[in-house]
Amino acid sequence: MGARRRCRRTRAVNKKTVRDVSWRARRALVRVDFNVPQDADGRITDASRIAAALPTLDYLLAQGASRITLMSHLGRPRPGEETRYTLRPAAERLAALLQRPVQLIADLDSPWPASSPAAERILLLENTRFHAGETRNDDALARRYSRFGDAFVNDAFGSLHRAHASTVGVAHCLPAVAGLLVAKELRYLSPLLSQPRAPTVALMGGAKISDKIAVIHRLLEQVDALLIGGGMANVFLQAQGHDMGASRVEKEALPDAQALLRQAGGKIHLPTDVHAARAVSASAERRMTPVAAVPPGWRALDIGEATIAHFANRLAGAATVFWNGPMGIVEVPPFDAGTTALAQCLAQCRAAVTIIGGGDSSAAVHKAGLAAAFTHVSTGGGATLAFLAGQELPGLAALADAGA
Ligand code: 3PG
Repeated sequence: MGARRRCRRTRAVNKKTVRDVSWRARRALVRVDFNVPQDADGRITDASRIAAALPTLDYLLAQGASRITLMSHLGRPRPGEETRYTLRPAAERLAALLQRPVQLIADLDSPWPASSPAAERILLLENTRFHAGETRNDDALARRYSRFGDAFVNDAFGSLHRAHASTVGVAHCLPAVAGLLVAKELRYLSPLLSQPRAPTVALMGGAKISDKIAVIHRLLEQVDALLIGGGMANVFLQAQGHDMGASRVEKEALPDAQALLRQAGGKIHLPTDVHAARAVSASAERRMTPVAAVPPGWRALDIGEATIAHFANRLAGAATVFWNGPMGIVEVPPFDAGTTALAQCLAQCRAAVTIIGGGDSSAAVHKAGLAAAFTHVSTGGGATLAFLAGQELPGLAALADAGA
């Protein structure tokens, strides 16, 4: 990555980090976000969140930490779903990446916390959400976690918006600092809110706007143009009076879409054409059509060619780009074409700061093998949006302040 593509370096987080603690012969308890996608057979399909934890783990090992105990959630398991949601595949992938054994610990009350440091150096606690108290930030559970460490490192950027026992409760039981991934994410994301280099363009997509309204409001204050595609564009198009056929339209969000269009003062750019089909299937009858002529009963499943060209043109002229959410149904080619075309276009924007905002868009650029072409690909989904919407992140707030 060339220096010109870097964000301005600010101390984005006024929190102590893993570098502010002396680790020699001490045990680190590290919250990571190994909530990674898996296929039906439990095989990890994108391990980028696991790889993103390595800088902190390498640092702790190099500093002589006597043991590193990791903890993470995976999915939203219900009682009885322990086999499906085990972190065993994550433990195996981490061991391969670190080239060290990683011991998966199912029983929090096992003798591990007290056992000799000469034994395994890296432990991974089984899925935190197997414990009923995790999501209600139960004190007693937080104390049981805390027995595994002398100090706590939160490196789970993707979970900072959750006030759970493994993110917030445990931070009140031990000295608590940010990991290197958290520090890096905030360093790249913060300038988007404070001093983005103009012209600034945000590209947003995905199925729904209901979980993105706050972030869109906030981004509209910062950006020169907001390009909207994907399913969420339908509600804006309908708010403008277009009949979107049988497309999925979040009707309850229509008043918000109207308010955002009024606030935007022309900054919002919507698709002018879409790739529509009779059904969500590659074999269904399909065609490019202007948004004013979506046939009755058809569904808009991707942005169209004229829209791709228009969006690509805006992206090419930008100095700062933030992208969150796919432009179409990426799981069903050819309705991934708009997303792929814009990812490729953005990858060419060598002079711009390009930030990919987590979730499906990060998965899309990793899948396309383009991740290295961007300034930063966030590991967060909801956490990234919450941060960019200006909301307090409880997992971050619970960490020790720098200088304290
Ligand atoms: C994410 O994938 O956004 C984080 O891991 C948080 O997961 P959650 O939405 O299940 O809390």
